[in-house]
Amino acid sequence: MDTNYKEIDKSHVWHPLFQHQRLDETDLLVFKSAHGTTLIDAEGREYLDAYSALWNVNVGYGRQEIADAVYEQIQELPYYPHSQINVPATELAEQLAKCLPGDLNHVYFCNSGSEANETAIKIARQYGKQTYPGENRFKIISRYRGYHGFTYGAMSATGQARRRKAFEPLAPGFHHAIPPYCYRCPLGLDSASCVEACVNDFERIIQSEGPETVIAVIAEPIIGGGGVIVPPDDYFPKLRKICDDYGLLLILDEVITGFGRTGKMFACEHWDVRPDIITLAKGLTSGYIPLGACVTSTAVFNTFLGEPDDNREFSQVCTYGGHPVACAAGVANLKILQSEQLCENAEKVGGCLFEKLQKLKKLPIVGDVRGKGLMLAVEFIKENGDQLDTEDTNKIVGRLREKGVIVGKIGHAVDEPENIIYIAPPLILTEPEADIIYNTLHEVLIQ
Ligand SMILES: Cc1ncc(COP(=O)(O)O)c(C=O)c1O
Repeated sequence: MDTNYKEIDKSHVWHPLFQHQRLDETDLLVFKSAHGTTLIDAEGREYLDAYSALWNVNVGYGRQEIADAVYEQIQELPYYPHSQINVPATELAEQLAKCLPGDLNHVYFCNSGSEANETAIKIARQYGKQTYPGENRFKIISRYRGYHGFTYGAMSATGQARRRKAFEPLAPGFHHAIPPYCYRCPLGLDSASCVEACVNDFERIIQSEGPETVIAVIAEPIIGGGGVIVPPDDYFPKLRKICDDYGLLLILDEVITGFGRTGKMFACEHWDVRPDIITLAKGLTSGYIPLGACVTSTAVFNTFLGEPDDNREFSQVCTYGGHPVACAAGVANLKILQSEQLCENAEKVGGCLFEKLQKLKKLPIVGDVRGKGLMLAVEFIKENGDQLDTEDTNKIVGRLREKGVIVGKIGHAVDEPENIIYIAPPLILTEPEADIIYNTLHEVLIQ
C-alpha cells in the first residue's frame, strides 16, 4: 500500500522545494496518523515530531476538542462569507483581542500566513495614503533572512534570495536591512556594539530612500526559517523608537512565534514591544484547519473610518476569510493553549532542553545553540568554524529520522551551506520527551 501511494504521488503530485528529477533518491514518508507528539507512518513506524509539522501543531496531534468543534460547526453552519456575521469568527476575534498585547483590537481573517502579511502590507500602504495625504509613503523595510510568505507582496518583503530569484521582478517598494544574526554578524561586530549598528541600518535605508516615502517596517520577532535568529533584548525597543520617530508602522509577523511557541503567548511580550499590526497563522489553529489573521491597533483601524464617499474602507475580499469552521477550530485551540498553560510549558520544558543542548557546544561540530521557549536551533560547523556542508547536515537530519526523531532544517533561505537544524516540538512536550530529543541528537553527533 505504501509503495502504491508513493508511485501515484510521483506521477501526480508537485511537492514544494523538491527537485522532482531526484525524487527517486528522496525517501518521502507517508504519514497516516498522529497523536500527541507522535507521528505514525504507513508502515506503522512512530516518530517523535520535534518540528511540530511546520512549526505549527502547537497543541499536539489528535485533539478531540478541536475535532468536535469542527464537526459541530460544519453541521451548524459550514460556510457563509464574512460580509455578514458568523458566531465563531466573532468569538475568536474577541478572544484574540483579549490575549493580544496593547490595543490590537481589529481582526481581519484570511487563510494563511502569506495572506496575513499580504493584508498587513496593503493595510499599511492604504494607511500611508490616508494618514499622510500629499506624501507618497509606500515603501516597506524588512530584513535579510526574514521570511514572510510566498505571495508577491509577502515574498517581496522576504529577505531570502533563493526563494525570490526565480520569480523576479518582484513588487516594487521593498527594502532590506541586515538581520541581528549575532553568531555570524553581517557587519563583523561583537555583541557589545552590534545592536546599534543593526538598528541603524533601518535608519540608513529610511534616510537614503527619503522618510516621506517609507510607511512600515515588517519583522519576525525571532527570524524563523532564516535560522532562528533571536535579537538582543534592546533590539526591538530601539526599532520601535525608530518607527515612532519617522511615523512608520511596526508590523510584527508572529506567524511562527505566536501562540506560545517562544514561552509567551506572543513573542513581542518578551521585550514589551507593541506593534501597530500583528500577523498570525500556524498556531492560531495548530494547523488543524488553515486560518490566518491580520490584527491592527485601534489607531490604525480608525484611519479607515469615514463617509462612503471618502473610500476609506478596506476593499479586499477573501472568500474564505473568517470561515466559521476554521474559526471554531481556532476557539477550541485557544482554549486548550490557555487551560493547559502551554506557554508556561514551552518556557519550562524549552528552557530545560535549551540548557541541555548547550552542552553539545563542547563537540567540535556544534557552533551555536540558540532560541527561546520551544523554538530552538543548532548550527553545525567544520573544524575551522565555517558552515558545515548541506550534505553533511542532511545526513544528521536523516540519521535522526532513522532513530525516530524528526527535526527541521534551514532550506532555500540563503546562498550558503544549509547547516542549521530546527527543534520546535509541540508545546505539550514533556521533559522525558525533551531528553529523547537531546539524547538522540547527542548520539547521532558522536557517531
Ligand atoms: C514567519 C512566517 N511568516 C509567514 C509565513 C507564511 O505562512 P503560510 O505558509 O501559512 O502562507 C511563514 C511560513 O512558514 C512564516 O514562517
